[in-house]
Amino acid sequence: MSAEDFHDKPFDEGTLTKLQIFELYAKEWLPVFLSSEKPWRSAIHLFDFFAGPGTDPTNVLGSPLRLLRQLRDYQGLVGWNKVRIHVHFFDEAQEKIARLEESVTAHELRVPSVNFDIRPLRFEDAFRESERILANPQAAKLVFIDQTGVAQVTPEVFRKLVNSPTCDFLFFLSSSTLHRFRDHPAIKQKIVRPDDYYHVHRAALEYYRSLLPPDQEYYLAPFSIKKGPNIYGLIFGSAHPLGIDKFLEVAWRRDEFSGEADFSINRENIRPEQLLLPLNEFRPSKITAFESELEGLLRSGHLLDEVDVMRVCFENGVKRRHAKPVLAKLRREGVIDLDFQVPDVQRLRSPRPIRMRK
Ligand SMILES: C[S@@+](CC[C@H](N)C(=O)[O-])C[C@H]1O[C@@H](n2cnc3c(N)ncnc32)[C@H](O)[C@@H]1O
Repeated sequence: MSAEDFHDKPFDEGTLTKLQIFELYAKEWLPVFLSSEKPWRSAIHLFDFFAGPGTDPTNVLGSPLRLLRQLRDYQGLVGWNKVRIHVHFFDEAQEKIARLEESVTAHELRVPSVNFDIRPLRFEDAFRESERILANPQAAKLVFIDQTGVAQVTPEVFRKLVNSPTCDFLFFLSSSTLHRFRDHPAIKQKIVRPDDYYHVHRAALEYYRSLLPPDQEYYLAPFSIKKGPNIYGLIFGSAHPLGIDKFLEVAWRRDEFSGEADFSINRENIRPEQLLLPLNEFRPSKITAFESELEGLLRSGHLLDEVDVMRVCFENGVKRRHAKPVLAKLRREGVIDLDFQVPDVQRLRSPRPIRMRK
């Protein structure tokens, strides 16, 4: 679907899920910066670089209005008047920006004491203009990049985002972008199962990870949404494990409501004669793929403590709690010894060890 006709149709279910995850994450993110007597950042900047007109034709709220709805609900917080709050909504289409201005007013979302920066700008220009803010260590940033079609998150854009202090970002890979990843010569050879969207999404994540400087501590998580025949890939990035932990909690909470958390990977487009493996083995879920990876790493002694386990969870886009059955099984089998059931995100500085027993 092109960017032009996107808002002429009601949001489909996958889009709604994506928007709900974004909104739930914003709901968790905002109080981190607004609920303290002594806020740890003097300003927050909320960026929506592909904002659209605000609603779909049936008046369902799009990303900018969802963000404002959450912001409105936090007006009473103790840090509210101590932090400068900026929202930046950009879209290349002048007409969409005009409609967005109207919808913000119509939905009574012109939240007082918030600085509104709503302008028609192409992503390239908007991003260039925003670089100074993104680089400001006194400001916390939340960035949503809801691109359609061609991926705008070039290596340069990605590097700038990950190097921005206190900046969490969420970007979206449409099925067509994922296809492009699958067909990219450098990535193609690394994808074990090119018709498996989960693997393609993981490969896309690996590609972005490869752009990180080798010693940079940074957390990236993939999250796939499957609705009907479509699979969308969200990629979330944060320099802080608490950020990524919150994102995954939210994403799974949303996904569990729709019952799609553990979806079988879409291989409808594979003809039976193309199957090389028995059907069961060829249909692992996201969880079983994660479990077998975690189990292999634990058995081979590669994971030394709970933070190592947590990292594997994040890289697979699953919650810390998903590690519990594997840890329990290997402890039962006498492979490992440990004093925890689920890795704790609060114990980054003093992680509990995993000891090999045989
Ligand atoms: C998927 S829609 C955005 C949906 C919006 N986030 C929402 O929740 O309603 C993509 C938007 O990106 C805009 N767009 C497409 N290419 C763009 C570009 N290069 N720079 C800025 N905006 C662009 C389109 O006009 C369209 O409104």
